[in-house]
Amino acid sequence: MVQTANSIRLIAPHGGTLVNRLLEGELRDVMRERARSLTRVPLSPLNTADIECIATGVYSPLTGFMGQADYQRVVHDMHLDNGLPWTVPVTLAVHDDLAERIAIGETVTLAEPDPDAPDGERLLGVLTVSEKFRYDKQVEAQKVYGTTDDAHPGVARLYRQGDVCLAGDIWIFDRPKEVISTFGDIRLTPAETRRLFVERGWRRVVAFQTRNPIHRAHEYIQKTALEIVDGLMLHPLVGETKSDDIPAEVRIASYQAILATYYPLDRVLLNVFPAAMRYAGPREAIFHAIARKNYGCSHFIVGRDHAGVGNYYGSYDAHYIFDEFDPQALGITPLFFEHAFYCRRCEAVVTAKTCPHGRDSWVFLSGTQVREMLARGEMLPPEFTRPEVSRVLMEGMKRVNGR
Ligand code: ADX
Repeated sequence: MVQTANSIRLIAPHGGTLVNRLLEGELRDVMRERARSLTRVPLSPLNTADIECIATGVYSPLTGFMGQADYQRVVHDMHLDNGLPWTVPVTLAVHDDLAERIAIGETVTLAEPDPDAPDGERLLGVLTVSEKFRYDKQVEAQKVYGTTDDAHPGVARLYRQGDVCLAGDIWIFDRPKEVISTFGDIRLTPAETRRLFVERGWRRVVAFQTRNPIHRAHEYIQKTALEIVDGLMLHPLVGETKSDDIPAEVRIASYQAILATYYPLDRVLLNVFPAAMRYAGPREAIFHAIARKNYGCSHFIVGRDHAGVGNYYGSYDAHYIFDEFDPQALGITPLFFEHAFYCRRCEAVVTAKTCPHGRDSWVFLSGTQVREMLARGEMLPPEFTRPEVSRVLMEGMKRVNGR
């Protein structure tokens, strides 16, 4: 059958309906005015990113911050209370003194710290509090991150946050500051990517999550995946990352430096992912996949140590966790890749699966080595990353370090 735009049916959003919690028109004006007089809840960068994701349907079917039933089931059983797969809590934790001042049923204002705003806060929207509940941070740490070690950046953030979760639906009248000020031209919401995929005639789309500058192994797995689908959505995360990760602006510049030269632009979309990194490894791989399903992607790349940090997870734990889910319930199909690297004898990027040569021929570079070389102002080896990328990274890091 000849496929026309009208006949393209993309994968359904998680739970069946794409959530939209952005207010428009008069309702938006009324709520924005009303919000000024309500109790304010200060947001962390994680909360702000989560709000953007809830409001634009990235976290469909969530319409707000989780209540206790969802929270407990997500932590202990990796599903929402309604039975849909979901692996990380999306909660709004506040400190006791603020929680005590807020009643169940009350509507509060979600306030993002903003040094440029007259009173230091940018008001984003409202939350109607349906529940307040305490939770056990040690249990959440162990279950979600696989460790209670506060050297883990996700666990450290969890330990810093308040002890009471405010649950309830949200409505947003203004998008977070970063959203309106950065990457505006490559920041499409799930509704927008879905429209674009249909326009381009892409029925099967693979998404690539990343929090690092592009390198040859990334390019290899992206293009290998693209061979079996219609389109590739490069989807670098631009929410909060740990302090020693390379800043989003430099990472995005690394993509822009090579996109037009090395990628078929009619089959590739560079779009940014507004979520913050949790570093929850395998659980985050499932969460990342579900979010990309909401963008309309049918496939999702999971490589080596996806969303990992330090030595907390095994290289392929993020592959094995998919076995714990009903593929139909997940909907999006994972594409698993082994550790890829350059082989000097093959003169190509390979994996241990596809190359017969040993370690002596293989070029490995750790993230730490990369950061150290860039800090010294050295070009990275061309076997590791393309020279165009090296240059952008060196200049970008010089700029960032010089600030
Ligand atoms: S992540 O935190 O977003 O997972 P990163 O940007 O390094 O970090 O990885 C993006 C994706 O590429 C993940 O799916 C990861 O597993 C995969 N990946 C990164 N490096 C390699 C590699 N050398 N070989 C195979 N997969 C890799």
